[in-house]
Amino acid sequence: MSPTPPSSARVGVRFDSIDDARDRLGETGYLASDSIATTTFLADALGKPLLVEGPAGVGKTELAKAVAAATGARLIRLQCYEGVDESRALYEWNHAKQLLRITAERDSADGWDALRDNIFSDEFLLPRPLLAAIRSDEPVVLLVDELDKADVEIEGLLLEILGDFQVTVPELGTIAATHRPFVVLTSNATRELSEALRRRCLFLHIDYPSAELEQRIVTLRAPGLDEALVASVVRLVQRLRELRLRKAPSVAETVDWARTLLALGATADGDLSAELVRDNLGVLLKHQDDIERAAVALDLPAS
Ligand SMILES: Nc1ncnc2c1ncn2[C@@H]1O[C@H](COP(=O)(O)OP(=O)(O)O)[C@@H](O)[C@H]1O
Ligand SMILES: [Mg+2]
Repeated sequence: MSPTPPSSARVGVRFDSIDDARDRLGETGYLASDSIATTTFLADALGKPLLVEGPAGVGKTELAKAVAAATGARLIRLQCYEGVDESRALYEWNHAKQLLRITAERDSADGWDALRDNIFSDEFLLPRPLLAAIRSDEPVVLLVDELDKADVEIEGLLLEILGDFQVTVPELGTIAATHRPFVVLTSNATRELSEALRRRCLFLHIDYPSAELEQRIVTLRAPGLDEALVASVVRLVQRLRELRLRKAPSVAETVDWARTLLALGATADGDLSAELVRDNLGVLLKHQDDIERAAVALDLPAS
């Protein structure tokens, strides 16, 4: 019997429509813009990996988590870093355990060949995220996070795996996915990813949200803050993003800032006071020169 062609791995159609994707992501607490809902739906419908690029803190990682939560899939994450290699990404052999077995059985009657087969079996394999995602019996969302931090070689490995969703372990043979994982690759664009990888994926750029969407995100993530204050918070953050800062505040920081106001018991007696903004700017901005630049631009009083 010929092996099942890998391309027939079931493409899990998880979302019925763009609206369905938006609604179900929303139920998990992820508020998707039109472009996020559309591209997520298409990536699923076409069975293509989703490459998400954009500045830090705009909801790239969170999107993968939300897709997993919305579809009841297991999230398997490969966190990339400089030097991440095949043995960390795909699989490695458990050398310590192999050595123990060799020591225990080297005098056994079966001989070296049997021992070698034995120690290169499943029992001694340590699956890393990519192999774990391929082998999983249950539906999986595979998150390859911050791919731009990894060396370019890892892209070659990903291309192979994302091409046919199978992995060959020389000692064990070829392992093909039964469920095609929903793959999300994220990048902060600190380096260009290869054209070959881009071609394989659907591309989604997530930028800072519109004021309207950001207000809804803040209301959801920092419940209890007065509506007028939420609007002021978002207006302030959006203003700061227009300045040329080293690190513009992200959605994560907007939410932190809103929670700060809640913690301080801020009430809606008009706009945010200049003193309040000055004293808490460190929640939004993480570099002293950014804080100084913002203080000038916003005309904040000296402390
Ligand atoms: N669309 C969104 N809906 C809800 N929360 C969001 C959204 N975008 C960003 N966030 C918030 O921002 C935080 C940071 O998002 P994250 O996915 O970690 O950013 P990134 O991976 O892009 O650096 C999340 O934990 C979440 O609280
Ligand atoms: Mg992230």
